[in-house]
Amino acid sequence: MKYALLLLLALFMAPCAFADDADDTIGLLIGVLKDTADPAAQADLLKGMNAAMEGKRNVKMPAGWQEVYAKLSQSPSDEVRKQGAKLAAVFGDAGTLEAMKKLVLDPTKPAEERNKALESLIGKNDATLAALLQQLLKDPAVAEAALKGLAGTDDPKTPAVILAAYPTLDQPARRAAINTLSFRPAFAKALMKSVKEGKIPTKDLTAYTVRQLRSFNDKELDAWTNEIWGVAKTSNQQKIAEIAKYKAMLTPEALKAGDPSAGRALFAKTCMQCHTLYGEGGKVGPDLTGSNRQDIDYLMVNIVDPSAVIAKDYMVSIIYMKDDDVYSGIVTKEDDTSVSVTVESGVQVLQKSEIKEIKHSELSMMPEGLLTPLSKTELINLVTYLRTPAQVPLPK
Ligand code: HEC
Repeated sequence: MKYALLLLLALFMAPCAFADDADDTIGLLIGVLKDTADPAAQADLLKGMNAAMEGKRNVKMPAGWQEVYAKLSQSPSDEVRKQGAKLAAVFGDAGTLEAMKKLVLDPTKPAEERNKALESLIGKNDATLAALLQQLLKDPAVAEAALKGLAGTDDPKTPAVILAAYPTLDQPARRAAINTLSFRPAFAKALMKSVKEGKIPTKDLTAYTVRQLRSFNDKELDAWTNEIWGVAKTSNQQKIAEIAKYKAMLTPEALKAGDPSAGRALFAKTCMQCHTLYGEGGKVGPDLTGSNRQDIDYLMVNIVDPSAVIAKDYMVSIIYMKDDDVYSGIVTKEDDTSVSVTVESGVQVLQKSEIKEIKHSELSMMPEGLLTPLSKTELINLVTYLRTPAQVPLPK
């Protein structure tokens, strides 16, 4: 018996033990452990397995292990119990992973718990992660987190799966979907195709996405973004410097100390006439609730340089009236007799017969320089508020 064990042990510890036949070898050893009653032999076998597992993580729990371990953990031998527990910890890590996967996939469990487990799984990035995340897109409780997680994986099936799920996603999940698709050139091409085919509305692409797509310097993507986006100047040096200056102030520590309520008051003063956040505010610009607000780069680029990339939907037109009035705003509707223009304060319906000329500018309705008058503390408070996950009270 001892010889057979030594043979197996030698086999197990050989360099090939973690090649394809590793599972078989472990299975064999578990079988032997199961049939062995001699504590000394059990201890030898376990020691050998532990030595071979040194430093390994996320080892798949072998079939039959739990049953064998139940027996070993009752052993009168201290050494067997000790070695058994050590090996159980190696397999246990994988056991925990399996348990987390089960939790994530279980729609009867609270969304918060599932999302937490999902985060841990995403951090581990094991080989089956992409497939698991793809599977979760159909489940609204975890779809957004799964989409964000998919950004870190590069399974070629991902774009097709995301695009198929897209119509069923809610707004925040759609943002996450578009962001994930714009992180890799190959994914971006699939995104482009879907938008071209009308499966994804152009308006779902934000200024941020377009900037992202441009950063690939890909001829085909550039030609396409030029076609659907009116203006795409890259930030000039001065704006780049301004963004860098703000970013240097917005350190994680500074943001931790920021006052979101004070930030909300600033938002109400400077941004809310045009933007909705948490259900309150104007509709001149995009609703920011589902935007990529966590991302400081996104915020800074869009606030400091709003005209760098503008969707045609948001370009300012300047309307000169015969009576010398001038309206500048976004033309939202036009028919035979009238033009509706959205200005900061609301919608104006202008009679065509009274219009002298309409000039289409290449500027965003969103003004530049909004952050210039703010103090450092105000900037930090505003950004802290923009990054909150839920509404906060106004200051007293
Ligand atoms: C006069 C109206 C107006 C004001 C005031 C305004 N914005 Fe905007 N904003 C817009 C419009 C229109 C767009 C979309 C056009 C574009 O891309 O520039 C926009 C775009 C944005 C975007 C990018 C949204 C996207 O497409 O992803 C962000 C972020 C943003 N604004 C934040 C702010 C913040 C923060 C403030 C206050 C400091 C602010 N805006 C003030 C009109 C406004």
